[in-house]
Amino acid sequence: MAKALRQLSMSSLSEPFPEVLTLADMEACLALSQKSDPHPWQSSVWRRSLRDDHCLGIKIDDRLVSVAVFSLVLDEVSLLNIIVDDHYRGRGLGRELLASGLSWMQQFGAERCVLEVRVSNRPARSLYASMGFAEDGLRKNYYPLGAGREDALLMSVPLPLEFS
Ligand SMILES: CC(C)(COP(=O)(O)OP(=O)(O)OC[C@H]1O[C@@H](n2cnc3c(N)ncnc32)[C@H](O)[C@@H]1OP(=O)(O)O)[C@@H](O)C(=O)NCCC(=O)NCCS
Repeated sequence: MAKALRQLSMSSLSEPFPEVLTLADMEACLALSQKSDPHPWQSSVWRRSLRDDHCLGIKIDDRLVSVAVFSLVLDEVSLLNIIVDDHYRGRGLGRELLASGLSWMQQFGAERCVLEVRVSNRPARSLYASMGFAEDGLRKNYYPLGAGREDALLMSVPLPLEFS
């Protein structure tokens, strides 16, 4: 977090440390998702993840500005979601939250991270590629898109990340 934290503290923002989220953060996750994710999760999905998965977030002035959701099965962690408030993008928060989350998941035994991303999601694909994720294949017509469907790109990376 060092780079992002320095940048944020220099702009007088208070305590932007990653923290574990709980069901108490349900409304904030829902609000962030609806505001800043073009494909927001429903409240039932947030409730399940906050209860059963590993959720990490960054709050600034007590407001949630970024969240990442991880699901662990044996030694493989899936990144289920990551969102940065659109007003806070491009400051390194997405990369730093993902790196922090993957370090956190290694403490539970994760040795590999896998994810699915819409082929059209250039910012997310670029983020993952910049962190060492490799492209493993496509799931055809996986995501709903308007009246049609969109492919999912499958990506993975061994842990620990090489750059961290
Ligand atoms: C994807 C997302 C989390 C990135 O968050 P962010 O905080 O803006 O990302 P960062 O500032 O940490 O950028 C890290 C890298 O991501 C890539 N990236 C970020 N925004 C980008 C953009 N608009 N276009 C292209 N690449 C981009 C770049 O490689 C960047 O590295 P660089 O700054 O050295 O060029 C954010 O755009 C988001 O919340 N999107 C909506 C939700 C979503 O699509 N989540 C992914 C679900 S799979």
